[in-house]
Amino acid sequence: MKIAFFGSQPYDRRFFDEALSSQPDASSIELVYHNALLSQETAILALGANAVCVFVNDVLDATVLAALHDYGVRAILLRCAGYNNLDLPAARRLGFFVARVPAYSPEAVAEHTLAMVQTLNRHTHRAYARVREGNFSLDGLLGFNLHGKTVGIVGTGKIGLATARIFKGFGCTVLGHDPYPSTHFAPLGAMVDLPQLLAASDIVSLHCPLMDSTRHLIGPATLPQMKRGAMLVNTSRGGLIDTGAVIEALKSRQLGSLAIDVYEQESSLFFHDHSSDIIDDDVFQRLMTFPNVLVTGHQGFFTIEALREIAAITFHNLDCFRHGGDCGNSVA
Ligand code: NAI
Repeated sequence: MKIAFFGSQPYDRRFFDEALSSQPDASSIELVYHNALLSQETAILALGANAVCVFVNDVLDATVLAALHDYGVRAILLRCAGYNNLDLPAARRLGFFVARVPAYSPEAVAEHTLAMVQTLNRHTHRAYARVREGNFSLDGLLGFNLHGKTVGIVGTGKIGLATARIFKGFGCTVLGHDPYPSTHFAPLGAMVDLPQLLAASDIVSLHCPLMDSTRHLIGPATLPQMKRGAMLVNTSRGGLIDTGAVIEALKSRQLGSLAIDVYEQESSLFFHDHSSDIIDDDVFQRLMTFPNVLVTGHQGFFTIEALREIAAITFHNLDCFRHGGDCGNSVA
């Protein structure tokens, strides 16, 4: 059984090799790591593999899926939760086994969300640089108490719930919005509709999946509904935000600050070192000019616990593909 990894990084190798060594049938499994993202051009690398293992920015459209099928691939193992990069009907038509890792560590993303909020709010990133330069001035580092603030959680699934619990611990009033509300949210706060949530929240944190119905959920129509000066946080998927509209809202001061771990056009930037390159994404570069914008490169999931769990669940999914049976994580 050969598995071709796309978009693989040194940490993928470390945690997948570690997990492989504890598989009872390890000697019958070969892991082949490719750095390249999966695309029409790179799909050929899967020739001879039984399965591909892919991440958030690999392209799994109908053309790529057809090519993979031609090359003999029969299983798609997503080493992530979201699958907006997959053409699901095409995968079904071609009879692929598709499984994901629906919940490896909601806390990893929730804790990163809070790290971003407090970095942006208390300016610890600027303080760190200043103090190392011997500059102990506090000018420009003024923040606000989280205690007593209202936080709107859009999407009260696993990560939204974990995030809501932490905000609750800070003494915030928590509001939730979700078309399929979870009963677990009730002890944390009230469920409201989106306009109500946007109007009442000092911080809006996005935790819903990217789908046609949620693309640009935050855009020209919804930004004016937000409390003036509020903070917007997106650790879910870049496409939830209309970046151009958000830039206008930052310029007009309607939006007070922005923290994003994900970006609409991230696939050409994130997970690689571009420090010696000229970045020709002008929208991204405009974002970088704002002192009240904080961007991290899709690292919400990036904890030891989460990577161990991702590898373990992916091997469980592989086992179901090989031996049949419902793995509970099937997508197609
Ligand atoms: P989940 O499936 O447990 O929860 C998603 C929730 O969003 C569900 O309750 C669903 O009903 C709700 N929802 C659907 N449409 C909505 C809408 N229009 N408005 C509000 N809520 C809506 O998913 P989970 O595990 O909480 O993950 C959420 C998202 O986080 C994933 O879709 C993924 O995009 C992102 N993610 C980001 C990571 C990172 O490293 N930054 C890592 C893992 C996931």
